[in-house]
Amino acid sequence: EDLLADPVEKIAKVGGTRHPSIPLPIDLFGPERRNSAGIDLQDREILADVVRGVSKPPFVPSEVEGRGASDERVSTALDTNGAIGRAHAAFPAWSATPVEERAACLDRLADLLEDQRAELMAIAVHEAKKTVSDALGEVREAVDFCRYYAARAREGLQPIELPGPTGERNVMRMEGKGVWATIAPWNFPLAIFLGQTVAALVTGNTVVAKPAPQTPAIAGWAVGLAHEAGIPEDALILLPGGPEVGAAIVGDPRIMGVAFTGSTATARRIARSLLEDESRPLVPLIAETGGINAMIVDSTALPEQVVQDVVTSAFRSAGQRCSALRVLLLQEEIAESTLEMLSGAMEALVVGDPADPRTDVGPVIDETAHARLMTYRESRKAHWIKSLDVPMEGLFVPPTAIRLGDLSELTQEWFGPILHVCTWKAGELEATIAAINAKGYGLTMGLHSRIARNADTVEALARAGNLYVNRSMIGAIVGSQPFGGEGLSGTGPKAGGPHYLYRFCAERVTSTDT
Ligand code: SER
Repeated sequence: EDLLADPVEKIAKVGGTRHPSIPLPIDLFGPERRNSAGIDLQDREILADVVRGVSKPPFVPSEVEGRGASDERVSTALDTNGAIGRAHAAFPAWSATPVEERAACLDRLADLLEDQRAELMAIAVHEAKKTVSDALGEVREAVDFCRYYAARAREGLQPIELPGPTGERNVMRMEGKGVWATIAPWNFPLAIFLGQTVAALVTGNTVVAKPAPQTPAIAGWAVGLAHEAGIPEDALILLPGGPEVGAAIVGDPRIMGVAFTGSTATARRIARSLLEDESRPLVPLIAETGGINAMIVDSTALPEQVVQDVVTSAFRSAGQRCSALRVLLLQEEIAESTLEMLSGAMEALVVGDPADPRTDVGPVIDETAHARLMTYRESRKAHWIKSLDVPMEGLFVPPTAIRLGDLSELTQEWFGPILHVCTWKAGELEATIAAINAKGYGLTMGLHSRIARNADTVEALARAGNLYVNRSMIGAIVGSQPFGGEGLSGTGPKAGGPHYLYRFCAERVTSTDT
């Protein structure tokens, strides 16, 4: 379904037509907390029905009447300066709100997200072109971020007494810094958008939040829920728009920190902009960017498991995860047999309509991405190992495996369902890891091996934030698998990890003579 082109109008329509919650027939958030990839087809069909059921109402123009609050949200969206001013004015009261009350807002937001998971999944499928199971994973992760950061704030933001040799009383407090800008990507338009935003809020900051231009509707809906959960309207202001809005926000001297997820090039532009004006305070930038993520497979690996994990890591979500596998490094002895199996497994992938429960791989996000990926793929045609047939209509990129002569041929991240493959010789494990590290990125890395010593070697030498051994490389779980990279892949701290909140804080110490 083609949504309205204008993002601001989209938000008006979504924000104005809050749909009553639709009870789901299966327990999506049950105690077993199944990973979204683990839902079976029957579950997926039920979910797809729900998604279809709510896909229409939020987007029907005639339902926009009486949209009330969303009018205001739309007009302020056009006024960056005014929005930052309001967030700035809201800071003293919000930062003085006890941490327990701020955390309670996050828990209420998590409840609302769970209540409205069907609507949110529907928007994720229709706006971000997520498959049904990815849409479920998206909502779950957003809920997890809210609950995890609420819990971390309660235990981690209390003042700390630091007695010392002088006999003075020393107390360290973690407080908000001011207005933060959160700038989110389209590939996790709810989970990452909210993760960054609620982390800034629970630490006592106010926030102007810019969603990706491709996905403002789900962000608009989420901000509506956050306000309903008790976060004051001026403490969290949605600012949809493209790069020009982002530049205006980041260039404003009242911004006291930026949490950004997106490309390395944009992260660099933001860093430059924050440093440009010499009268401006020095403020933190948290950047999570991309990677040239590699999986090393040695001759002892279990072939079936390798193939399944490669397919999941490289092609699920149409390869549009920053964690996704970009280059598979096979030990020479097993390369040809593994590739034969991989080609067979790729044949089984269903590429098509993301709202169809059977679909494994949906379209890519927009025409620009489609054109870029298709041109690149075509340019490597002589080296294709396997490529699938896909529907002609729509923004589908055929899942493709491409052979490389050498790792040096891959010089950038291709953000789509394109997997590169090269080989390494026995005795070259260290050199292979060094070649991956030399790319300068450091987000995810994978290893398939049954030799513990090889796992130890990779762990010791890999310069990657998240190492996955004998499993897939995507789907980090909040709280258990803190996520984020180093080098060209980002600044840290890790999202969903125990240290994340502190970067949003002003740390202050009072020492009193007793
Ligand atoms: N956090 C996501 C994952 O682990 C990637 O952005 O797949």
